[in-house]
Amino acid sequence: MKTNSSNSIIGKPLDRIDGILKVTGQARYTADTKQQKLAYAVLVQSTIGSGTITELKLAAAEKVPGVLAIITHNNAPKVQKPKTSNPLLLLQDNIIRHAGQNIAVVVADSLQAATLAAQLVEVAYKETPSKTDLASAQAPAKQEDKDYVRGDLAAGLAQGKISIQQQYTTPTEFHNPMEPFATVASWENDRLTLYDTTQGVFPTRKTVAETLGIPVEKVQVITHYLGGGFGCKLVVWSHVILAAMASKEVNRPVKLVVQRRQMFGPVGFRPMTIQKLTLAASREGRLTAIEHTSVSETSVFNQFVESVDEPTKVMYACPNMRTSVKTAALNIGAPIWMRAPGDAPGSFALESAIDELAEKLELDPVELRLLNFAKVHPESKLPWSSNSLKECYSRGAEKINWSARKAKPRQVLDGKYLIGTGMAAATHGTYRSTASAIVEIFANGHVTIKAGTQDIGTGTYTIMAQITADVLQVPPETVTVELGDTNLPPTPLSGGSMTAATVGSAVHDVCMAVLNKLKTMATTDKKSPLFGVAAHDIEASGGGLVTSGGSASISYRDLIKSSGQPVVSAQVESKPTPEAEAYAKQSFGAQFAKVRVDSELGTIKVEHLVGVYGAGRILNAKTARSQMIGGLIFALSMALFEEAIFDHQLGRLINGDLEQYHLPVHADMPEFDVSFVEEHDPHINSIGAKGIGELCITGAAAAIANAVYNATGIRVRDLPISLDKLL
Ligand code: MOS
Repeated sequence: MKTNSSNSIIGKPLDRIDGILKVTGQARYTADTKQQKLAYAVLVQSTIGSGTITELKLAAAEKVPGVLAIITHNNAPKVQKPKTSNPLLLLQDNIIRHAGQNIAVVVADSLQAATLAAQLVEVAYKETPSKTDLASAQAPAKQEDKDYVRGDLAAGLAQGKISIQQQYTTPTEFHNPMEPFATVASWENDRLTLYDTTQGVFPTRKTVAETLGIPVEKVQVITHYLGGGFGCKLVVWSHVILAAMASKEVNRPVKLVVQRRQMFGPVGFRPMTIQKLTLAASREGRLTAIEHTSVSETSVFNQFVESVDEPTKVMYACPNMRTSVKTAALNIGAPIWMRAPGDAPGSFALESAIDELAEKLELDPVELRLLNFAKVHPESKLPWSSNSLKECYSRGAEKINWSARKAKPRQVLDGKYLIGTGMAAATHGTYRSTASAIVEIFANGHVTIKAGTQDIGTGTYTIMAQITADVLQVPPETVTVELGDTNLPPTPLSGGSMTAATVGSAVHDVCMAVLNKLKTMATTDKKSPLFGVAAHDIEASGGGLVTSGGSASISYRDLIKSSGQPVVSAQVESKPTPEAEAYAKQSFGAQFAKVRVDSELGTIKVEHLVGVYGAGRILNAKTARSQMIGGLIFALSMALFEEAIFDHQLGRLINGDLEQYHLPVHADMPEFDVSFVEEHDPHINSIGAKGIGELCITGAAAAIANAVYNATGIRVRDLPISLDKLL
């Protein structure tokens, strides 16, 4: 690993290298894909939650000029069950399992014709009662997933002198990336090309190939730009396969863009959770036992577990523990990972409960957390590869002026406003997977980096250019980054906040490999000024190679030109090292919130959000800060606004659009104060970077809830904290 030298391009707040392309509309997102003879597909979705289709009347729809095909369960080709994905409902039968299920796809010459025809499809149903209410649903007694047990829970509970026991709930929430799902499918004989909105071009290729029963080599998936995903784009949903089916059926390229209203339910969401937490501690505040049980929603056709106990297992040193995560199957679409899945709702409950325990112990919430700081990983007992949590607490406390906070709630008044301050810890796992990359250096000095991974909007293009520029010591403007295509080297999906560490390491390693090649060329070429110099006495500098003493040098251009080759390239596969397995890898942070509550109206304004994080080496200060602010907005939104509201009689969502599903707007934004503790982690990977995109949403909703309690004396355990709950 190169050291964090101050002149390194790594860490610099470089503008996005694709920024100009994006703001000038030159960056082509999936729905912008142009094709000859493009046809348009529109989905028809079930209006009931449970039952069967008894009749489909298509005559009126088929009469619309320009309609090319209507695919339903009566004429859809049979498909395979993929082994790699959540079960897909692909018009294989007439059974309705949830409202919003795709029941037909209409293909036409124009989007207008397809939209009109889709509205004219008449459906008759035989309806059966829908189950959509988690609160009244019972988790089945026998479930596969075993409880997690550490130590002796009963003994720990008995040993504790002070305890709290509470129930917390988090509602169903929708990802709603700015860019809706879209697929452009085209066939050339037996080869399928998919432009698709995916967080994983390779996993998408695999699922599509398996479902359609064709070899993966026959499928190419392309995602050059993605307008956010937040987890919903980690898997293939049925519309992707339906677009491919439609294209085959009409023998033309087909574009299918999921409508905004269709983004609410059928394409993943964060499931509702009902969590029970029991904390027991000694009088001094040492945790003796934690019990964390939960039930979350899943659908009747898949099994998805929201692992809310993840933070509970790692956050504090606690010898005795039991956690259990159960599910109840409902007539809803399939839930899926959403930004910090498990950790976000789980940490809301845990960090609220810790705040409640602190009050009962008459201890400062920061002090209580420090008292239970986990010096090693509480389960594996492995040492942390790095852990800056304590510094995050102290820096954050200073920034929010924590020492001035009144421990007793409802003490600070400003006219009719109640002011409160709260905090919570943040944590997320640090993952790294296997990835490949190619580097090419051309005789004109230009460098190209190629990797299959997609930039999901976080700045992957930019940080890969920075890593390349750093290793090869070339200006970042001379680096072209090609991403988002299964024809490029294999990489994993962009999930679990692991892309920077995974693909970044591969880019680092491949640049090191090409550098070694160049050194060999320079030291063995008789015409080279570095001929005969030992390779370890040469370093990259100023767009070429130079001896350690600086006495001799050669530019990459001259070196490559003199070799007579047009390009020097390398490809590597980069894997997690066994050395890293000797450490527990986790990122931590602390978040502090200051809120202002109108005592007459119950309205809440978050005035100040402070986030301090230890997340390894930060590759780009600007894009990293943006990600953290994005996560804090996600958390603010979770704390105060977002909530799916179902009509349980009808089995349907009531507020499935951006008008009625509340999200924060600019006027709701607090002052953000985001910073990183400088963390040198030599163990995790060759670039020392941890993930950051999910860390910032963990704990932050609890920090706001704890601040609201400090302001008002009202403890809201059921998110969102809407104003009615404060009156
Ligand atoms: Mo994230 S939920 O792993 O996109």
